[in-house]
Amino acid sequence: MMETQNLHWWQRGVVYQIYPRSFKDTTGNGVGDLQGIIEQLSYLNDGTPRSLGVDAIWLSPFYPSPMADFGYDVSDYCNVDPLFGDLATFDRLVEEAHRRGIKVIIDWVPNHTSDQHPWFLESRSSRDNPKRDWYIWRDPRPDGSPPNNWGSFFGGPAWTFDEHTGQYYLHQFVKEQPELNWRNPEVRAAMLDVLRFWLDRGVDGFRMDVIGLLIKDAELRDNPPDPNAPPDLPPNDIFGRQLHIYNWDQDEVHEVIREIRRVLDEYDDRCGIGEVWGELPRWIKYYGENGDELHLPFNFRLLWLPWQARAMRRSVDELEAALPGFAWPNYVLGNHDQPRLASRFGGEAQARAAALMLLTLRGTPTLYYGDELGMENGVIPPEKVQDPQGINLGVERTRDVARTPMQWNAGPNAGFCPAGVEPWLPVSADYATRNVAVQSEQPRSILNLYRKLLWYRRHSPALYGGSYRSLDVEHEDCFVYLREAGDERRLIALHFGSTPCHISIPGEQSGMVAISTYLDREGREDLSRLELRPYEGLLIEVTK
Ligand code: NOJ
Repeated sequence: MMETQNLHWWQRGVVYQIYPRSFKDTTGNGVGDLQGIIEQLSYLNDGTPRSLGVDAIWLSPFYPSPMADFGYDVSDYCNVDPLFGDLATFDRLVEEAHRRGIKVIIDWVPNHTSDQHPWFLESRSSRDNPKRDWYIWRDPRPDGSPPNNWGSFFGGPAWTFDEHTGQYYLHQFVKEQPELNWRNPEVRAAMLDVLRFWLDRGVDGFRMDVIGLLIKDAELRDNPPDPNAPPDLPPNDIFGRQLHIYNWDQDEVHEVIREIRRVLDEYDDRCGIGEVWGELPRWIKYYGENGDELHLPFNFRLLWLPWQARAMRRSVDELEAALPGFAWPNYVLGNHDQPRLASRFGGEAQARAAALMLLTLRGTPTLYYGDELGMENGVIPPEKVQDPQGINLGVERTRDVARTPMQWNAGPNAGFCPAGVEPWLPVSADYATRNVAVQSEQPRSILNLYRKLLWYRRHSPALYGGSYRSLDVEHEDCFVYLREAGDERRLIALHFGSTPCHISIPGEQSGMVAISTYLDREGREDLSRLELRPYEGLLIEVTK
């Protein structure tokens, strides 16, 4: 067991994801900006328990972009889109964040650029352009069809034909996101220099977009069909009907990630977080054989589970059993690509219990903006859908629902943008009651639960750095675990069911409830007959 005092910031801390478009608009154009983030830094952490108390922010892309995928289509990796501000504002953001002890993690989108990036404009200009091989170009098959059968995540084929040069280029997202050829050493050198550009500006880490996609099968072979694909997929969802054997998670990608890691290691205590999916054994490989790849491959396993105690416990226990000693766990329950956690898990009571779980499991939690208010999926009228996934694959798949404006107060536009301005996505209907100002005044609000949990966690070595062990209790709707560091022991009891229950905690007599997810219960409890209300979670101090 690692000493709790020697932990890195990215192990001990809590990360908060900001989707800059949706956080705070200071220019009155209906889109959030970097200045808005600066103005809200004290909300995130002012060093007192009155603020949320996060340790790091991760900013989704703010780079110049035609916004075909809302910034995940980058046309200049070393600048700021005028929509969001400029480099000077970014520098101020880093300075102001650091002054408050907040680390800054930025998104790095290495798999694809915008089709408006100068590299791609050159690459598509002629077959013998020096940058032709920076992207993945192939001849049509003899019948003129695309080079292989791969589909785009956002519907349709993963190849677009370029009339001018008579070849197809690969894009596994929208056609405005051509994929870089990471087998080309010049591409690697250029993209690694992008990392250095931002590291030199003081950023503390990167969230690396679809990092497992960087290397594709050398022969670009066809993917086999997925026999278990859901029968009701939209006709254009080619991607959803295949097994992804050849388009991602190739063994050779690890060598690239080690190279990326070596750049981070040129600097002091920076962190590499990666968006990685896949089955546990293959996912774990992204930590590197000796911990020489990602510090934290995002762990999305709990995010996709139903709201069930046994499923959650199994997932956590499997992870704990599988991780090598050097690999630090982490958990994600929401992000800009998934429906809101309060909507997925069933409502605010469940969202409260989820908060307790996320902030007390062993490992680094990543929070998503607005989840601390219990924000639910926004209702987006079909004509207002912005997300290409929703536009191409059906409005019910739109990710806009999780990207609605942050709800700051009960004023016009929830305080996100000035009165009279139309926000880029509609503000959710519940904003008058579900917002930072109102919830700050309610002692038992979910926001105050988050604040209390974060403050407690910050001062608890057992929680931020201790061991984890799940306990057998006879009730199938309960997930109970113990966190320990030295003499400090904290018991977490989570009830996933909708009717009250009693459980007996094995080996424990009594304990002090420090936090109930309803914030209305504290004090000594008999642990041989502990009552839990529907969806209640308890953080309990126990002694040996
Ligand atoms: C993953 C990002 O999280 C998502 O928002 C984006 O659309 C794709 N990668 C493509 O960059």
